[in-house]
Amino acid sequence: METAILSTMKIKKVQISNLDKTTLNGRKFGSTFTDHMFICKYKNGKWQKPRIKPYKDLKLAPSARVFHYGQAVFEGMKAYKDTEDQIWLFRPEENQKRINASAKRMAMPVFPKELFFEGLETLLRLEKDWIPTAEGNSLYIRPFMIASGNGIFAAPSEEYTFMIICSPSGKYYSKDVEVVIAERFSRAANGGVGAAKAAGNYGAQFYPTQLAIEQGYDQIIWTDSTHKFLEEAGTMNIFFRINDTLITAPTSERILDGVTRKSIIAIAENEGIKVEERRISIDEIEKAATNGTLKEMFGAGTAAVVTAITHFSHKGIDYKISDVADRYSKRFKKILTDIQQNKSEDIFGWRYKV
Ligand code: COI
Repeated sequence: METAILSTMKIKKVQISNLDKTTLNGRKFGSTFTDHMFICKYKNGKWQKPRIKPYKDLKLAPSARVFHYGQAVFEGMKAYKDTEDQIWLFRPEENQKRINASAKRMAMPVFPKELFFEGLETLLRLEKDWIPTAEGNSLYIRPFMIASGNGIFAAPSEEYTFMIICSPSGKYYSKDVEVVIAERFSRAANGGVGAAKAAGNYGAQFYPTQLAIEQGYDQIIWTDSTHKFLEEAGTMNIFFRINDTLITAPTSERILDGVTRKSIIAIAENEGIKVEERRISIDEIEKAATNGTLKEMFGAGTAAVVTAITHFSHKGIDYKISDVADRYSKRFKKILTDIQQNKSEDIFGWRYKV
């Protein structure tokens, strides 16, 4: 039975929730989904009435453009629940703006801000009991848009589907990681789609990442087209601490403008730490690792949060990063997650009450 709950949205609830059968904490990242999903279709040049309905398979024509030309964009967000049972999001306006910037780059229609927030908040209120609260757990939220119109003419689709699905998830990385610096493959090109959260950016990393895993590493640090400068790690932006200065690559058309990245920069500056957003060469990092001034390397992203990197490999040489006592990565992670989970004062104004 469908009941109109909000002016613009119909909600059809599941008859039997899967929640009772689910252990919420410690779940493998992104492998279990909540009872409901938000869905809104675009046709005849406009977005149709959005709906929330039971999470289930989609019906799509085999000719839908997403299957052939990869017209698909997504976001990653997290919801937290505090001890008072209040739901919180972290800087959701950034994700809302970014999915539209990605959509524009992929010749897809922008999704209206009001619908994004109405859909997201209504879905989260409905799935409130699915939000895990143990340390390192959260409700991972995946808004995405696909070209769902039929026809394999190589041109933008005329129909799209925007959705939000939610997954109670444990840590993305359960331990510190070891990385390989890319020497042959590239994640992004000048003038390409590297700055967009386009699905293909991620799929294209799977093969080189598999090779890195076969060599005993977890991830790749992608480099620029000359393979001389360090850019990002694909699932996270990347930071280096040389002596006590924090360095990260500037965002560009090849690098994702990460929400966690910009939050870490603000936190570090607020802690009185010198931050440099500049190009950083492999040469500089190798020298710093050799002379002991490379004190830390870590990644930052919504899924990865702040993940320490203990080793990097380049051209077959493995460099170990020495373990310092007061790790910036540890300090930043605590400050960040305390704000996200409403455990500390939000001096930056990042928390968003649902
Ligand atoms: C996120 O951090 O939310 C991302 O979108 C990265 C993803 C590939 C897990």
